[in-house]
Amino acid sequence: MNPINHVAIIMDGNGRWGLREKKSRNAGHRAGLKPIENIIEESLKNKIKFLTLFVFSTENWKRPQKEIKYLFNLLESFLKDKTNILDKNKIKLKVIGNKKNFSVSLKNILNKTEFKTKDNIKLQVNLALNYGSKDELIFAINKINKKQIPINKKNISKNLYTAEIPDPDILIRTGNTNRLSNFLLWQLAYTEIFFEKKLWPDFTKKDFNKILNRFKKIKRNFGKI
Ligand code: IPE
Ligand code: IPE
Ligand code: MG
Repeated sequence: MNPINHVAIIMDGNGRWGLREKKSRNAGHRAGLKPIENIIEESLKNKIKFLTLFVFSTENWKRPQKEIKYLFNLLESFLKDKTNILDKNKIKLKVIGNKKNFSVSLKNILNKTEFKTKDNIKLQVNLALNYGSKDELIFAINKINKKQIPINKKNISKNLYTAEIPDPDILIRTGNTNRLSNFLLWQLAYTEIFFEKKLWPDFTKKDFNKILNRFKKIKRNFGKI
């Protein structure tokens, strides 16, 4: 049985869910919070060590200002509400992506949460925020050049946002869309990918466990036979 160390998730389909259920995309973003809590709980139960959630991509700035604002307000209040609970459950929170363009208040709460939870070792939750894999790679290569060290696989991995994090074993994308949308292109080289038809707000603990069980039975070759 394959061990599960790291699960990454592209939480897609909030907008369509919101339009379908409440005639508002933003209602879908709000409804997307509950499955995040459920999947964190289930990850703890399954002794998963890393959970990486795609929250906002470098391409998502192309959305209407009102939706972007709603998303970041939601994130801010979610963190304000949940930091203590995360900490109590020995969860470490880390941001992957570029915080530079965020509001001062969002940056503050992100930094505060990261600092408060930095020594927790039960589960690390990585929030991919203003994250784009191509930007990340360019950023890493520039860092390598500055350090005047060779460009090789080890040095690239060590200079990505995910430097200390093993590559994902499992990638899940909800929302009935079969693409990677600039997520973890380097790190997913040998990841098992599961495309899920359900929209993110409909994704349950049971759906998650089904995928974990399917994964456990896969023969992972890594090029061998
Ligand atoms: C994913 O849901 C959440 C973010 C990208 C922030 P979407 O908002 O992309 O939902 P759909 O794909 O439009 O339904
Ligand atoms: C990917 O979803 C980004 C997140 C889930 C945060 P998108 O909905 O932005 O992806 P595309 O644009 O449909 O590929
Ligand atoms: Mg989408």
